[in-house]
Amino acid sequence: MPEVKHKSCQINAPVSLVTGAGGFLGSHLVDRLLLEGHRVIGLDNLCTGSLENLDNALSFKNNFNYIQTDIVESFKIPDLKYDFVWHLASPASPVDYRRLSIETMLANSIGTKNMLDIALKHSAKFLLASTSEAYGDPQVHPQPETYWGNVNSLGERACYDESKRFAEALTCEYCRRYCLDTRIIRIFNTYGPRMQINDGRVVPNFICQALRGESLTVYGDGAQTRSFVYVADEVEGLLRAMLSGNTRGEVINIGNPEEYTILEFAKIIARLCGIELNVVYKPLPPDDPAKRCPDINKARVLLGWEPAVSLELGLAATIDSFAHELIM
Ligand SMILES: NC(=O)c1ccc[n+]([C@@H]2O[C@H](COP(=O)([O-])OP(=O)(O)OC[C@H]3O[C@@H](n4cnc5c(N)ncnc54)[C@H](O)[C@@H]3O)[C@@H](O)[C@H]2O)c1
Repeated sequence: MPEVKHKSCQINAPVSLVTGAGGFLGSHLVDRLLLEGHRVIGLDNLCTGSLENLDNALSFKNNFNYIQTDIVESFKIPDLKYDFVWHLASPASPVDYRRLSIETMLANSIGTKNMLDIALKHSAKFLLASTSEAYGDPQVHPQPETYWGNVNSLGERACYDESKRFAEALTCEYCRRYCLDTRIIRIFNTYGPRMQINDGRVVPNFICQALRGESLTVYGDGAQTRSFVYVADEVEGLLRAMLSGNTRGEVINIGNPEEYTILEFAKIIARLCGIELNVVYKPLPPDDPAKRCPDINKARVLLGWEPAVSLELGLAATIDSFAHELIM
């Protein structure tokens, strides 16, 4: 991400309300909005985020307010006219949403309703950060937005997958019934600095193991595929989706269609960390999707968006930041 330079807010600066502001993606979005001259109000209960992620934003004393609150409960926000509501608050990694299963369902149901109501009150544009997990273990490949998905509603991942699907349905109803200006972004695996080091996802797992000179843990035989988008690209996609005039009521995939097997990915990380690859195989977790890859034609056409940062460059920046964190 570009370093954020201080820029005072103009009197008529757009006002953005961001939930999950202390999280990985939310904090990068906040930095970018400040860079664009927005006045930003960030909400978070820090159940998976951290205040350190907002170090940079908090130095924008006049343009950024942080409010520690649970968006599922009743809460107060500064008395401003909000132009944009960005709803990102939800645990997002399998480790977090298993630990916080019911909290995840509430953030995506009651939390989403609370944020939609604020958007409605202010006639603000609303963006829901949904997920590729809405496709479950997909039987269509790559996944276009028109695919309805293959989700186990009773499985261990359902607290996340199904509550995001509920959030999508609720968002669509606010758009239909109240003509609220909404868009739903299905985010695919995003990586970069500020990811939690121990959240169990493949990027931090592999990088930390490689930096410690340990064997890399591969679940299953490593033939399952994933695609990875760098956080600056993801934020650019979110920004375009919110600001473009042609996204009202739309659902759009934002991810990287370049696909790697987990084993290929392990080899790349080992090479970039300068270690010889040793792998330990462990059983696949339940409902782990065999393939996950976005069809991004809609993002290309509607937003003129596609990923710009190569995997090697993005990983190099991420490895750097993790190395720094491991030393601290
Ligand atoms: N990172 C990815 O690869 C990815 C992929 C798909 C979807 N997403 C979606 O993007 C959003 C952000 O994901 P992330 O990777 O930054 O996760 P994250 O865990 O780093 O950030 C989520 C933030 O939401 C906050 N939060 C959770 N419940 C809350 C509540 N009830 N009230 C207030 N704050 C709450 C957490 O404390 C955290 O700071 C999530 O909605 C997630 O589902 C992310």
